[in-house]
Amino acid sequence: MKYTTLGKIGPRVSRLGLGLAALGRPGYINLGHAEDLQQNYSTQAMQWHTCKMLDLAWDAGIRYFDVARSYGKGEAFLGFWLKNKSQKVEEPFVASKWGYTYTADWKVKAQVHEIKDHSVTVLQKQILETRQQLGVNPDLYQIHSATLESKVLENTQVLRRLAQLKARGMRVGLTLSGAQQAVTLEKALGVNVEGVRLFDTVQATFNLLERSTADMLTTARQEGLGVVIKEALANGRLTFRNPDVHLNPKWQLLKTQADRLNTTIDALALAYVLKQPFVNVVLSGAANPEHLKSNLKALDIQWDQEAEEVLQELEETSETYWQNRKKLDWN
Ligand SMILES: NC(=O)c1ccc[n+]([C@@H]2O[C@H](COP(=O)([O-])OP(=O)(O)OC[C@H]3O[C@@H](n4cnc5c(N)ncnc54)[C@H](OP(=O)(O)O)[C@@H]3O)[C@@H](O)[C@H]2O)c1
Repeated sequence: MKYTTLGKIGPRVSRLGLGLAALGRPGYINLGHAEDLQQNYSTQAMQWHTCKMLDLAWDAGIRYFDVARSYGKGEAFLGFWLKNKSQKVEEPFVASKWGYTYTADWKVKAQVHEIKDHSVTVLQKQILETRQQLGVNPDLYQIHSATLESKVLENTQVLRRLAQLKARGMRVGLTLSGAQQAVTLEKALGVNVEGVRLFDTVQATFNLLERSTADMLTTARQEGLGVVIKEALANGRLTFRNPDVHLNPKWQLLKTQADRLNTTIDALALAYVLKQPFVNVVLSGAANPEHLKSNLKALDIQWDQEAEEVLQELEETSETYWQNRKKLDWN
């Protein structure tokens, strides 16, 4: 495994992290999610499956784990694994998020899967729940999908509460979402509390299709923030599972380049993100062991000029990307 320093003063963490969005609840938008869970949604089975994925990740050298209050029982499953893991020399780095409340009642299909509320009341309630579920303080607590519309970056009560958590040793960050990620990050870089910049890290969607945040993430990194990438596989669209990869000439370029570099489509897509100079950590969203093993190959790929030029073709506008993402079915 390769390691990196998360931000100017940050801890050493692994360059690949494991995200639990698809592991903590029966329903999620990733392609083939139901199949991965073999539609066995008993809490025990899903906890066992999550621990198996966490063990595999740990044995592969992954030391960065990303969860959220809204990922169903994701925090509880991670807390169970942390408590039952034998003492280790190295500490796992645990990142969680607040701001969404899970409302799907453990169902795959639900009217409303999660409710967004970036108020100080929710922050206060969820930090207590997160501590209780994880059994430990998270190393990093992030605003979940901060947007200009949610006005959380202007909410002084929330910003002060986050500064208090930071003063007590917790790192504070934000995650972004939607076609306005770069503008939102620019605003977040200007957020100070009592003259101190508030955010230590940013988590953003960046991949072969959605590249619009590259410049602003470069600025964030230069200003000392840790940069974490989510949805590096576009929720499974940048894998063999996407029918386009087999039918659509533009997408077939992915397969040709993967074959040329003797690797898998997902590993190639992850390698593109890992090679970006502004990136510290890339999150794998794999929910099945074979997929995680395949993702790990990304660390050994020599990205080259031909791949760079040929796969430029895949870039989409942010609007197109987020519209397509909206169409993904909860399964
Ligand atoms: N707003 C936010 O803060 C936010 C939003 C989204 C995600 N995140 C974080 O980022 C993490 C990763 O993002 P993500 O899971 O949404 O998306 P992702 O990483 O772009 O996509 C993961 C999907 O790719 C599939 N996949 C991976 N390797 C594969 C392979 N070798 N072959 C076929 N399919 C493969 C996975 O399938 P399987 O499930 O079958 O393995 C899963 O469906 C999440 O777990 C979460 O921690 C945060």
